[in-house]
This record gives sequence, structure tokens and C-alpha cells, in this order.
Amino acid sequence: MAGTGRLAGRVCFVTGAGGGIGAATVEAFAREGAKVASVDLTTDAPGDLVLAADVADEQQVSDALRQVRDHFGRIDVLFNNAGISPNDDGSVLETTLDAWERVQQVNLRSVFLCCKHGIPHLLDNDGPNRGSVINTASFVAVMGAATSQISYTASKGGVLALSRELGVEFARRGVRVNALCPGPVDTPLLQELYASDPEQAARRLVHVPMGRFARAEEIASGALFLASDESSFVTASTFLVDGGLSGAYTTPL
Ligand SMILES: NC(=O)c1ccc[n+]([C@@H]2O[C@H](COP(=O)([O-])OP(=O)(O)OC[C@H]3O[C@@H](n4cnc5c(N)ncnc54)[C@H](O)[C@@H]3O)[C@@H](O)[C@H]2O)c1
Repeated sequence: MAGTGRLAGRVCFVTGAGGGIGAATVEAFAREGAKVASVDLTTDAPGDLVLAADVADEQQVSDALRQVRDHFGRIDVLFNNAGISPNDDGSVLETTLDAWERVQQVNLRSVFLCCKHGIPHLLDNDGPNRGSVINTASFVAVMGAATSQISYTASKGGVLALSRELGVEFARRGVRVNALCPGPVDTPLLQELYASDPEQAARRLVHVPMGRFARAEEIASGALFLASDESSFVTASTFLVDGGLSGAYTTPL
């Protein structure tokens, strides 16, 4: 699909850029004319400027943002998207404190750090629309599952609440902040599950009215909308891109 310049002249900072949703979003932003700075644990990611950084480390986050600002001269969009969902995060009865802490650091502390050190760069821009921040939460921030991943869910609830409050705080200073809440996405992890345990995969699908998981590109389209001026009146929102999952009581047969 050819772009129409919806992000022409914008500089976008994307974390978790080597992963499914991140890489698809880097592509979508670039197609729409943005310069994209990508961050991941390694430099194996698409983008105009690719930096290796651990988003849970304050110094590395502020250094990465400084490098992006020095390189491009401005920053307009923060897509704080890096996250983990490890196997040792499960029921509250079994999850260790170590596992809890690791997930909180990568999923929630990182978003705090990227906002703390990133928003000042956006505020430096001129005009009424100074920038857009998109923090990746999840549908689990708004609904509970019996198959718990307790730290992951709590971290995403934190990302949602933090984003909402920042949206309110900065609304009159021209910076919009939204929580992007994807439903389940068709990732290598889910494909593996399908192959190894089709019954469990099918059980998950029952809850999605559309009867399928999202493609990473469909989540990227949500991020693109929130990054562009088309969403100029959207802030502090719980932006669900979930195939109807959170709206369903029962689903079609
Ligand atoms: N896949 C889904 O079904 C789904 C659903 C809802 C929300 N999400 C969220 O979407 C975001 C992206 O998920 P994805 O499906 O693309 O996952 P992914 O595993 O494909 O990508 C995540 C990326 O984050 C990077 N990362 C992990 N820890 C990091 C750190 N400390 N510093 C820098 N980078 C780090 C990883 O290297 C990876 O490239 C995550 O926040 C995830 O929780 C995913």
C-alpha cells in the first residue's frame, strides 16, 4: 500500500521495534513519510536510525532519546511498545517476586522512563500540536482471564492508567497521550501454540467475535492513526484494537 504522507516531516521513536507489532509500525510510519528511530535490545530492527538499548534502564533510555534528537533535530512521536510476556509469569499462587519484578520493569517502568525523558523533547516543538505519545497496553488491561499472567496484566493496567493521566496532564500543552490496547495478535508464539495445542488455541479464538487473531499490521494501523493528525481530538483514550473482544458477551457461532 502506498503512503499519502500522513507523517511527512515527523520523527518517530519506536521501542520494541524488532518485534511483531513494533516492526510493522516502523514500516507503516516510514511509508507515511516519517523518519523512524528504532530501539530494541539489539540493532536487528528496521528504521532510519537503529539503537540498541534496554528500555528498563534510565540512562540508556535518556541517552537513546538524546541521540535521536541530536540526529534528527526533533522528536514528534513516541511509540513506547517494548514488552515481555515470559512463561514464569502465571497465577499469583506460583509467580515468584523475581518474575513479577522483571515484567514490571520491562513493561511498566520502561513506559514511565520513555515518557519522563521523551515528553520534554515533544514539548520543545512549536505550534498547538507538539506531539503524540502511544503506549502499548493490552486488552488484559480492561478484562480478566482465568489463565492469569498476573504481573503482565498488572503492568498493562499500569500502562493504561499512566497514559490516561498523562493525556489529561498535557492536553493543553499540545501533547496527546493514548494507550493502544491490542487484542491477541498472530505472532510466532501463537502460531507455535496452534501447531502444538490446537484445542487451546481454538478456545482462545472462541472469545473473539471476528473469529481470528489480529495481524501485526492491523495494530500498526491503530498506532499510525494515533500518531497522525487524524486523531487530533483523541487523547487519554483506551484505544482498543481487539476484533470486538472486549465488547462481547457471547460471540457468533
Ligand atoms: N502479541 C500480542 O498478542 C499482544 C497483545 C496485546 C499487547 N501486546 C503488546 O504489544 C507489544 C509488542 O508485542 P509483540 O507482540 O510485537 O511482541 P514481540 O516479542 O514480537 O516484540 C517485543 C519486542 O520488544 C523487545 N524488548 C523486550 N525487552 C526489551 C527491553 N528491555 N528493551 C528494549 N526492547 C525490549 C524485544 O526484543 C522484541 O523485539 C508488547 O508491549 C506486548 O505486551 C501484544
